[in-house]
Parts: sequence; structure tokens; C-alpha cells
Amino acid sequence: MNLNNDIKKILVTEEQIKARCKELAEEINKDYADKKPILLSLLRGSIPFVAELSKYITIPIQFDYMKASSYHGGTTSSGNVAVTILPSYKLEGRHVIVVEDIVDTGFTLSTVMKILAESKPASLEIATLLDKPAMRKVTDLSIKYIGFSIEPEFVVGYGLDYDELYRQLPYVGVLKEEIYKK
Ligand code: IMP
Repeated sequence: MNLNNDIKKILVTEEQIKARCKELAEEINKDYADKKPILLSLLRGSIPFVAELSKYITIPIQFDYMKASSYHGGTTSSGNVAVTILPSYKLEGRHVIVVEDIVDTGFTLSTVMKILAESKPASLEIATLLDKPAMRKVTDLSIKYIGFSIEPEFVVGYGLDYDELYRQLPYVGVLKEEIYKK
């Protein structure tokens, strides 16, 4: 059993992700010099992205985590967002960068941003590895750092799952159709 055999095509390679993370980190280094931002990663999908991105961030940063999910094993968004883990740090007066794997309809991040805004951070921005702009259903979301904009198809790898699998693949790819029928 090799998960790589379930992939129909690779959309974004490991090398492309690494190169883009270096570029985004340089922007963050400039934008947040002397601000000691909190990288607030959304579990579970953003872990590989935040790990790669943060390698190239040279200013002081802190890590925090929260969990919000809207998918329940399928491939379409339910719009029902459950926040089950809240950040540990006090966010008031802090510069917060929410790190996400992918923005699809935008329901998840829109809910998360509203909850976080109540803590009165000094600033609140979003960094996402992937964006599917054609799928967007919320209009009030502004994303400061985008790794790659992709077509509206379901992808796995680099933190993204199908039925909680494939997150460890070092690239972003599309599954073969027969996998969904299993
Ligand atoms: P949204 O609320 O529709 O923007 O969905 C965001 C969440 O849905 C992401 O954090 C992912 O967990 C999941 N998601 C959206 N598109 C995909 C995909 O193509 N593959 C895997 N998960 C996805």
C-alpha cells in the first residue's frame, strides 16, 4: 500500500512549495519586523505549511493553535463550522497571523476571524498555502499571504486530507476517481 499510487496528478510540487514559503517568509520578515507576531495555525491541516513557512522567518515569532472544522469526511463544505480548540495565548494587543491550509468557501476562516477579533488583537491577517477563489461564498475575507491559487478541484497532501488520510504527502495532488468510490 503506497498512498502515492492513489494520486492522479501533482498540482504543486514540494520544490514549488518550498520556494513559495521562502518568498512569503521574506514578506512576513519585512511586514512584522519588531512586532513578534503569533503564527496561529488551524489544526490539523496547516501543520506542514507552518513548519515549512516558519523555517525561513527570521524575526521573533510565537506559535499557537486552534481547531475549527467544517468538513465531515466528504469533499464539499457544510458551512457548519465547529471551533473545538481555542488559542492558548492572550491575543489582546498582539499581531496575529492565522495560518490555514486552504481557503475554499471561506466559511471556516470567516467564523474564525470573527471569534479572534473579539480578543482585540493589534492586527489580524491570514496566510494560506492554497486558495480556491472560484469556490468562495463569503465576501468579507481578505487574505494577505497566499501560497498558490488553484482551480476549484479537491486536492490532498501537504496537510490536506481526504477522510483524514494523505496529509503526509510532500506535495499537493488530485486523487484518482476510484478512490472516492471505495
Ligand atoms: P472553507 O470553510 O470552505 O473555506 O473550507 C476550509 C477547510 O475545508 C479547509 O481548512 C480544509 O480542511 C477543507 N478543504 C477545503 N477544500 C479542500 C480540499 O480541496 N482538500 C481537502 N480539504 C479541503
